[in-house]
Amino acid sequence: MKFFVDTANIDEISELSEMGIVDGVTTNPSLIYKSGRDFKEVIKEIARIVSGPISAEVTSLDKNEMIDQGLELSKIANNIVIKVPLTEHGLIACKNLSKKSIKVNVTLCFSSSQALIASKMGATYISPFIGRLDDISNEGLNLIEEIITIYSNYPDRLSTEVLVASIRSPLQVAQVAQMGADVATIPPKIIKQMIKHPLTDIGLNSFMEDWKKTGQTF
Ligand code: E4P
Repeated sequence: MKFFVDTANIDEISELSEMGIVDGVTTNPSLIYKSGRDFKEVIKEIARIVSGPISAEVTSLDKNEMIDQGLELSKIANNIVIKVPLTEHGLIACKNLSKKSIKVNVTLCFSSSQALIASKMGATYISPFIGRLDDISNEGLNLIEEIITIYSNYPDRLSTEVLVASIRSPLQVAQVAQMGADVATIPPKIIKQMIKHPLTDIGLNSFMEDWKKTGQTF
């Protein structure tokens, strides 16, 4: 499963990228707002750091404006993926941009029927938001299972990758990997949490103490 990092914070992207853990980046208008930076400048800067897919989201609700924005954003670098919302206009923009060989990430997906139609409209990625479903007491993981089943029923016709979004815990990352999701976009804090285990810390402390007791140096 590919790991995309879900942030527009350059320091976080640089740190994780240096670790070699970043396959791509996803941003959205809220993450851009949180960064406090100019949208296109941030996307340009991310593209200088990461060679994998970088999702940049359109900010219009109108199909023609979405297409124009998508075309403009796609000129920033050849790894820019245009993120459009799962609306009628968003899907028309998706179809249009994908016909021009521009990769599209269809975002704000909350049902398997939405995922099915996005795939038929040429989406490179579908972004189901599992955390936001959990927030309203719907099982987000069920949606991932449903979408994977539907897409795998038509391997020759539906080539959209399942990009799990709105991830809230390390456990969810492992669960969607078990299901065979193609990509998880993960907040930097959760990537760091995935590394940690209290038994690793306890075990390492005792190894270090015993090593000191040997009196040896390496
Ligand atoms: C990424 O593409 C999504 O915009 C993001 O994962 C949403 O996460 P949130 O529900 O935590 O805001």
